[in-house]
Amino acid sequence: MKDIKNKIIFSAAQPSGNLHLGNYLGAIKQWIDLQNNYKSIFSIVDYHAITIYQEPQKLREKILETAMIYLAAGIDPKKSIIFVQSDVREHTELAWILNTISKISELELMTQYKDKVKKLRSNVSVGLFDYPVLMAADILLYKTDFVPVGEDQKQHIEFARMLARRFNNLYGEIFIEPKEIIIKEGARIMGLDDPEKKMSKSAENQNNYIALIDEPSLIKEKIKKAVTDSGKEIVYDLEKKKGIANLLTIYSLVSSKTIKQLEKEYKGKNYGEFKKDLGEAIVYFLDPLQKNLKKLKENPANVKKILKNGAEQAKIIASKNLEEAKNKIGINY
Ligand code: TYM
Repeated sequence: MKDIKNKIIFSAAQPSGNLHLGNYLGAIKQWIDLQNNYKSIFSIVDYHAITIYQEPQKLREKILETAMIYLAAGIDPKKSIIFVQSDVREHTELAWILNTISKISELELMTQYKDKVKKLRSNVSVGLFDYPVLMAADILLYKTDFVPVGEDQKQHIEFARMLARRFNNLYGEIFIEPKEIIIKEGARIMGLDDPEKKMSKSAENQNNYIALIDEPSLIKEKIKKAVTDSGKEIVYDLEKKKGIANLLTIYSLVSSKTIKQLEKEYKGKNYGEFKKDLGEAIVYFLDPLQKNLKKLKENPANVKKILKNGAEQAKIIASKNLEEAKNKIGINY
């Protein structure tokens, strides 16, 4: 048994758009705390991003910006490994191996894949279909114990766990069966324009999300425009008031006040007052991150150095574990 200090955390985000408040509250916020107690590895998964077409120049910028956001949020390269997925080739190599033990019928069941198919129709790449296998490779490659994520990734981690078990049964025990860490509040922040669907980087409507890089005026405007429900009361009711419930969740997480406290505070007040204060609370909450980000953007060379250094550290673990897997299979002579 590994003691807790040696347990491994791995998580990642795609540089496929603007990281938003959902990504922060559902995932990144946990990473910052967890890095103090675990061996932590955080990646910017560019090979996942290209499973849907990305404009090359934009992708280049977003890879670096995503890394800067990790750092600005408080991921400390002295405590954690931060790297770009494509810098460590072992990810795609292990994905190939895992492809050989993954079943088409299993991948067809993935909710995220099914949702994307609905949107993209016939324009679905093999890469998009195979996405969960590459994600499993990311996780298993480091013999990860825990994966802190938002709720939408639960099914993918269950799949990774199943692949670990299958590999171990077929070839011998080497992979750890990873477990997800999903926080109760914030695991599923909903879209501001449609509280029935999750907040998403790939949403067509910019008013769907608060990007972590949004200017204060834009943040306030987006909150003002957020879809609310008919009625006047500011109460948490997931059945009848999904919009307000989502805003209350966000408010609670950015202000550290409980939802009960907020309900009390806004008793008798209207949606307008509530939204005005919430907009300000988000601006205040994101202010330190945005200030740090501005500083990091002045010196991209320094961030690139951190990433290259992170990739070197990741590679040491990844190449050793991949070699072990290849030996088990008989891919050595
Ligand atoms: P991605 O880039 O979509 O999201 C990054 C993280 O943010 C969480 N998240 C949310 N949490 C709460 N509310 C929301 N509306 C919301 N939207 C996103 C996600 O759950 C995620 O934790 N497949 C992953 C990236 C990935 C990965 C991995 C993650 C690739 N390999 C290995 C963990 C381990 C993804 O697309 O995340």
